[in-house]
Amino acid sequence: MSNSRLQILREATPAVLPSMLLCDFGNLEREIRRLEAAGAKALHLDVMDGQFVPNLTYGMPIVAACRQLSELPLDVHLMIRDPGNYAQQFAEAGADLLTFHVEAVEQPAELIEAIKSFGIGAGIALNPATPLGAVENYAGQCDAVLVMSVNAGFGGQAFDPVALEKLRTLRSRHSDLLLEVDGGINTETIGACREAGADLFVVGSGIFRKDDYASALSDLQTAMQRPHST
Ligand code: DX5
Ligand code: ZN
Repeated sequence: MSNSRLQILREATPAVLPSMLLCDFGNLEREIRRLEAAGAKALHLDVMDGQFVPNLTYGMPIVAACRQLSELPLDVHLMIRDPGNYAQQFAEAGADLLTFHVEAVEQPAELIEAIKSFGIGAGIALNPATPLGAVENYAGQCDAVLVMSVNAGFGGQAFDPVALEKLRTLRSRHSDLLLEVDGGINTETIGACREAGADLFVVGSGIFRKDDYASALSDLQTAMQRPHST
């Protein structure tokens, strides 16, 4: 079941993934229905623990609620210390792709294998200041690499172009890897990310600060085809 949703996500690329960080949690079902109607192909869920990042969001219950409300693939981005302690619970809550930060773990290879053993996809993320070398040895083992284009922790920050070089290098070395970019993605920055090789584009404020999610998504899809927009 989970594996088939990961396959659906692969087949949907290039795709814009709404980051639920800025959604109206008092109306979660309505938000999800609006995103589905707008053509969203998956949902991106930002889990923060107030330790790995200086912000606190939500955990397994919200992932489980999204799973109950929607058949869309769930892309869960863990910004937490010791992600290995919770990986199985996130898998059971309904994550289809579970991504942890390389800065948060000592043995990434073991955690990647553990996540895959739960029958879901494994991703590894790196912050802008973390050199690509930190994930290079693990990229071939993962389903996805998430290249942060802002410091993990908050929505609404400005895009850091350091992500583009990382995307280009990863794409040149791994043709099948899902490449995800997260932070400050909008109609001005998405084209350069697509050109650099990204497949999945996480967008928070570029969708949730607009009234019309369908036009926000279609504007992003159009801008994705304009390589030199930054
Ligand atoms: C930041 C999160 C992002 C964030 C994106 O730590 O990982 O997913 O919500 O939001 P925007 O698009 O506003 O940068
Ligand atoms: Zn994220």
